[in-house]
Amino acid sequence: MAATILLLSGPNLNLLGIREPDIYGAATLDDHVATARTVAGELGMELEHLQSNHEGVLVEAVHGARGRVDAIIVNAAAMTHYSWSLRDALAAFEGPVVELHLSNTAARESWRHTSVVTPVASGVISGFGGHGYRLAVEAVRLLLS
Ligand code: DQA
Repeated sequence: MAATILLLSGPNLNLLGIREPDIYGAATLDDHVATARTVAGELGMELEHLQSNHEGVLVEAVHGARGRVDAIIVNAAAMTHYSWSLRDALAAFEGPVVELHLSNTAARESWRHTSVVTPVASGVISGFGGHGYRLAVEAVRLLLS
């Protein structure tokens, strides 16, 4: 059976394409999801996607991934920097977790330098814009092989 990846997108990522394009680029979230899904298919995997502006929805999506999904790619957006509940949910997920950001958060405001997700992630892809979606799926392939 093909491995399944859950791609999670946090608050405000539904506005990609119109939101601060100088930082996040002109591509929409649908564009990035299509890239990730295509690469997953090329590598023999399936990809599900959920975007939410609500912390509890994302936490419950991680709960629902347990025992069902093989890996999680998460761009938790601003929740990256404060959501202990998402961090704890990801810690309870048994498979690899790849943390993803379009921008290089370490090169931005100091409040973005802290990630509560990183300690429970297998690794972080940050600063490569939309290419990060391809890189994240490739990272999952490596981690599952
Ligand atoms: C982001 C970086 C976060 O600091 C920010 O709050 C986002 C997007 C990124 O993809 O670069 O919403 O996760």
